[in-house]
Amino acid sequence: MADRRVALVTGGGGGIGAAISRALAAAGAFVFVAGRDTGRLLETVVEALAEEGHAASTLELDVTDPESIARALGTTGPVDWLVNNAGIAESASIAAMIERGYGRVIQIASSAALGGYTYVSAYTASKHALLGYTRCAALELTRSGVALNVLCPHYVDSPMTDASVANIVRRTGREETDVRAFFASQNPGGILVTPEEIGAATLDLLSGDRTGVVLELIGGSARTVDEGPVLRSTPS
Ligand SMILES: NC(=O)c1ccc[n+]([C@@H]2O[C@H](COP(=O)([O-])OP(=O)(O)OC[C@H]3O[C@@H](n4cnc5c(N)ncnc54)[C@H](OP(=O)(O)O)[C@@H]3O)[C@@H](O)[C@H]2O)c1
Repeated sequence: MADRRVALVTGGGGGIGAAISRALAAAGAFVFVAGRDTGRLLETVVEALAEEGHAASTLELDVTDPESIARALGTTGPVDWLVNNAGIAESASIAAMIERGYGRVIQIASSAALGGYTYVSAYTASKHALLGYTRCAALELTRSGVALNVLCPHYVDSPMTDASVANIVRRTGREETDVRAFFASQNPGGILVTPEEIGAATLDLLSGDRTGVVLELIGGSARTVDEGPVLRSTPS
């Protein structure tokens, strides 16, 4: 990478966020690993990255709190690559990216952005909203140098899925391995998506010039849902 990109990964200490942070740091970016518990971020991700010789820092950030977002962005300087992994909040850094004529944003949505499931109506509504928002923003920003792309993973092998498995085991008394196997069988690929697959797909889109791409991660492989429009401006 010619210039070191500055990346910000929300929920960077989680199962997927940590894998994305590792993928970006290994590719030479300086990574702000963001979340609410900086002690945990340090222990779980940032110290390990530093030991491997990568450049990373914790960043205290609650994506539901505008003051926290402003405070965090006041300390990072310009962000080139933004990965909205923790939730649906859009940060104000997009406006700064437009002014600079370069920016890359990845939205970690879900297969729940592409269809409906039982018992997760609020989650599904928020992921549909994130997808719709991003489709519109990508169209509006084709001449700005800012690209936005969406990843829609099916069930991922991460703590979020562990919690869902534990919940079903608690309620039904079924075996943990059976429930995990059931979740995997629900994925079109028949296996759980790995956080590393998501890290690799994130880096691929951040490093390129595609925008409005919607990628469905089905477990072991991916399917392109939207190719997206052409990004017309030349990135800096
Ligand atoms: N697991 C799946 O099967 C799956 C499938 C499709 C999509 N996804 C999506 O993938 C993303 C990451 O999920 P995951 O599986 O990696 O879950 P996870 O392991 O539970 O991690 C979630 C992360 O989000 C952070 N977070 C939660 N609320 C936050 C807030 N208000 N501000 C800042 N950070 C916050 C948490 O950090 P702190 O608590 O330390 O702040 C944690 O690091 C989510 O958007 C999820 O919807 C997951």
